[in-house]
Formats: sequence, C-alpha cells, structure tokens
Amino acid sequence: MTRSDSDAFGPRPWPQPRLVSALSRGRVMAGIAAAWLALCATASAQDAPGAAPGAAAGENAWDKAGCLQCHGASGEGGNGGEFPAGPSLRKTRLDRAALAETISCGLPGTQMPSWLEGAYTARSCYGFPAGPPPAEVTATPVLSAGEIEALVDYLMAKIVGR
Ligand code: HEC
Repeated sequence: MTRSDSDAFGPRPWPQPRLVSALSRGRVMAGIAAAWLALCATASAQDAPGAAPGAAAGENAWDKAGCLQCHGASGEGGNGGEFPAGPSLRKTRLDRAALAETISCGLPGTQMPSWLEGAYTARSCYGFPAGPPPAEVTATPVLSAGEIEALVDYLMAKIVGR
C-alpha cells in the first residue's frame, strides 16, 4: 500500500522540495524571457534605420557635454545669448577624423573647448607632442575616447549633412 508523505507525517509546514524547484524553475524561465524581450527591444531601438551602433551612447555624450548649449538642440547652430554661438554642425565639412580631433582637442583661440580626458597632456593634439596644453584652449575634459567615438557616430548618423 502506498501512502503519500502528508498521510504519513501530516501536513508539512514547509513547501515540498519538488514543488519549490518547479516554482523557481518557472521563475527563472520567466526572468530569462523578460531579459530576452528587453534585449530585443534595446537592439531594435538601436538598429533603427540610419542609426549607427554607437548612436545611443553618442547622444548621451552629446547631452553630457552640453554641446547643445552652443550648437543648438539638434546641432543647427547656436543663436548666441547666454552661451557662445557655435556654428551649425549640420553644415560642417569636417570628416570623421577631423570631427574626432576637433571635439577631443577643441579649437584653441576660440570658445570651442577640448573635451577629451587627457587631451594635450596625456595624448597628442593636432600632431603636437603631449605636454602642457596651450593657454588659448578651454579644457572641459569630461569625455572618454570611447564616448567621443560614439559621439562622432551620432553626429554622422543624425546631424552632419541633415
Ligand atoms: C561653449 C560653447 C561650445 C560648446 C559647449 C561646444 N562647442 Fe563646438 N564650437 C564652439 C564654437 C564657438 C565653435 C567655432 C569655433 C571657431 O571656428 O571659431 C565650435 C566649433 C565646433 C566644431 C567645428 C565645426 C566646423 O565645421 O569647423 C565642431 C565639430 C564642434 N564645435 C563640435 C562640438 C561638440 C560635439 C560639442 C560637445 C562635445 C561642442 N562642440 C561643444 C563652441 C562650443
């Protein structure tokens, strides 16, 4: 004669092992499904037509540095006022490499700051050996090399020539 566990020992106060593992396996599967869905959502947002892979990170760098203060919310050029008027980046003729160098090292003698951490001091700018930065450059070293790469991707995908 077979007796169930509860017949033998009365109702157990703790959940039965097989039930627990079935429950938690269900929870893990649900977690994986949710994570996978989230991943797909992110991937498809980033893969929107015309967007470069770094575009989302690049937009973050654009916001973090506050490029819009001088260059306008979508790079159309600043209108002066509270901030110096930066030119339209939609109309720039600079290529990727020149954009990266300009953003990293700024434009000495103008109000375009250098943004790369270690620009001039740790990393050569405009072909000059690393050393003390020129007095005429405003240094705002808040972006990493990776962030500047992503920022250039973003500019090329969304701003330059648009
Ligand atoms: C404080 C104002 C200011 C901020 C902030 C600023 N810029 Fe500028 N930027 C300028 C000015 C002014 C110029 C034009 C300098 C000149 O040639 O006289 C310029 C020039 C440039 C140029 C060269 C455009 C060309 O065609 O020659 C690029 C590219 C550029 N900025 C990108 C950026 C990016 C990207 C950011 C954010 C990381 C940024 N700037 C933040 C003021 C600013």
